[in-house]
Amino acid sequence: MSAATVTTEVAALRIVGVSKDFPTPDNVNTRTLALDNVSFAVRAGELVSLVGPSGCGKSTLLRLLAGLDDPNTGERWIGAEPITGPSAERGLVFQDPNLFPWLTVRRNIQSGLVARGRLREKRHEVDEFMRLVGLETFANAYPHHLSGGMAQRVALARALINHPKVLLLDEPLGALDAFTRMRMQDEVLRLWQTRRTTVLLVTHDIDETIYMSDRIIIMTPRPGRIERTIPITLDRPRQRNRPEFLRLRSEILELLHFAGDPKSTV
Ligand SMILES: Nc1ncnc2c1ncn2[C@@H]1O[C@H](COP(=O)(O)OP(=O)(O)OP(=O)(O)O)[C@@H](O)[C@H]1O
Ligand SMILES: [Mg+2]
Repeated sequence: MSAATVTTEVAALRIVGVSKDFPTPDNVNTRTLALDNVSFAVRAGELVSLVGPSGCGKSTLLRLLAGLDDPNTGERWIGAEPITGPSAERGLVFQDPNLFPWLTVRRNIQSGLVARGRLREKRHEVDEFMRLVGLETFANAYPHHLSGGMAQRVALARALINHPKVLLLDEPLGALDAFTRMRMQDEVLRLWQTRRTTVLLVTHDIDETIYMSDRIIIMTPRPGRIERTIPITLDRPRQRNRPEFLRLRSEILELLHFAGDPKSTV
């Protein structure tokens, strides 16, 4: 099977030649190009990270894939279906968990089922998903009772209960402290492995990308284009202190020009 066939047949997610512009904030007569002719595919079951400088269009790309916005040009596909709008089969989790503050953990998790009139038939799954993210004893707690990591797990469970084919994660762990973040990375990996979901993860954290991804897609500064793709072939589960992990880390930092200048006095 050729590489092209693999891309089209088993790609869970595929975008081809996608460009997107927005009105320039300080000049409504001009427009700023956010994404410039972006193409890539994510295979079913793959976990791919999207890395790039602030403002390069990562969130815009995820919103286009979630169907919350439309591109100027280009195609978006999930499997063999074009993406034309939002769907529960593409779960989006933002940096901020965005929970409903007036609903308990249980009601937040089941809110998507309620909205689609599926609660009666799927009610048994709500407990299953609360267990999956380790929040069964917090079913009746409200969001203000939760730590940042717990709230983020509720947001993940709320997306996962729809059994999305694709999980779009926009820096979901960005607001967490370093230790909670590492625990949550294992959590997301466990969910990815047990649910066999395809994951596209936006992150600024190079260690996170190496620890989690099958592949890293690096974008250029705005207008966002794909600069390069780096496969991560380290065995799983990965260890952050292994020489091969650290070697890859320094290679990627070098590539992104963040390795630091040994002659610098700063
Ligand atoms: N709704 C909008 N209206 C106008 N401009 C927008 C809109 N959404 C995004 N942009 C612009 O598009 C560009 C890309 O924004 P985007 O939020 O996708 O970047 P990002 O890569 O997610 O950045 P960050 O890493 O800081 O989250 C920016 O220049 C931003 O100002
Ligand atoms: Mg963003």
